[in-house]
Amino acid sequence: MQNNDIYILAIESSCDDTSCAILCNNKVLVNITANQTIHSLYGGVVPELASRDHQKNIVAVVDIALKNAKITIQQLNAVAVTEGPGLMGSLLVGISFAKSLALALNIPLIGVNHMQGHILSHFIIDDTEQSLPQFPFLCLTVSGGHTQLVMVSNYLNFKIIGQTLDDAVGEAFDKAAKLLGLGYPGGPLIDKLAQTGNKTKFKFAETKLNHYDYSFSGIKTSFLYFIQNNVQKNTNFIAENIEDICASYQQHLITVLLKNVINCIEDTGVKQLAIAGGVSANSALRLHIKALERKLAIKTFIPKFEYCTDNAAMIGITAYYKFLNKTFSHLSIVPKVRMSVED
Ligand code: KG4
Ligand code: ZN
Repeated sequence: MQNNDIYILAIESSCDDTSCAILCNNKVLVNITANQTIHSLYGGVVPELASRDHQKNIVAVVDIALKNAKITIQQLNAVAVTEGPGLMGSLLVGISFAKSLALALNIPLIGVNHMQGHILSHFIIDDTEQSLPQFPFLCLTVSGGHTQLVMVSNYLNFKIIGQTLDDAVGEAFDKAAKLLGLGYPGGPLIDKLAQTGNKTKFKFAETKLNHYDYSFSGIKTSFLYFIQNNVQKNTNFIAENIEDICASYQQHLITVLLKNVINCIEDTGVKQLAIAGGVSANSALRLHIKALERKLAIKTFIPKFEYCTDNAAMIGITAYYKFLNKTFSHLSIVPKVRMSVED
């Protein structure tokens, strides 16, 4: 490590994971996450319980991160934190902690947009060899709260060119899983069961939209009716067909996602495609995106599993590029429940 190295401690607490990462420049030294399991009892994230667990976990998570990074707190050059979008109470815990730390150490505070973080997770350097996206690239951002097609022209510039008009694709996974009695979060459970299922057995409704926008609420309703109708005829329908239901539904969601991606690549001529966000952990989606390399003669970028779902390393890498640009935040920043990726 050199004297002009930049050390950033980053905190992510926008939803139900308390995460702390320490970066030296664009390299991750540690990335530690305390997952909250309590929400699975309720079939979804309970905001009040999430903020209480953040309060319980944050000191220990930061402490372990500092110990594992083998640096002292005085070596830090900045403190980064997710500013939004996210749950008010959850964001507040991370932001209050980050402000106090920055104030006590007299170093800059860097508020980070969570969705920009998901996209820039592709620039996190760790021990393995990797190739990085070149600007401009198209990013399909798919999480529990977002489904967007974003054109990224540099580390600080993001333009939405299509997005969901209602539910996010992560919600379409989670709500279907709940209906099937699988538990929360549903995406990984559907992914697993789909691996041994027939993806062409069942068909679901499609919503036609202009441009590159998405809609998942109609698909979700069609899934509900499909289940209700079949269970009426056969009470064991779900148990007898669970793998095929998961495989067919997952395939349908992926087909819908890819349609706009392909249209957008053909229309714009962009040669690089990335995916980001929790749903980018989906094994079938990863394979389909990879297959576009040959089909469309493009280069694709798929995040490592640990950087798909919420993590502080992605907040740290975004803060690193903000630091280089001297984009610092005032200590008066407040949580932003809604925050566009363009902000
Ligand atoms: O990015 P993320 O961790 O949190 C948000 O910012 O929302 O995304 C969480 C979403 C959940 O809807 C979860 O079901 C979904 O990502 N997810 C998956 C998989 N792993 C996580 N969806 C499908 N397949 C997966 N393997
Ligand atoms: Zn996220």
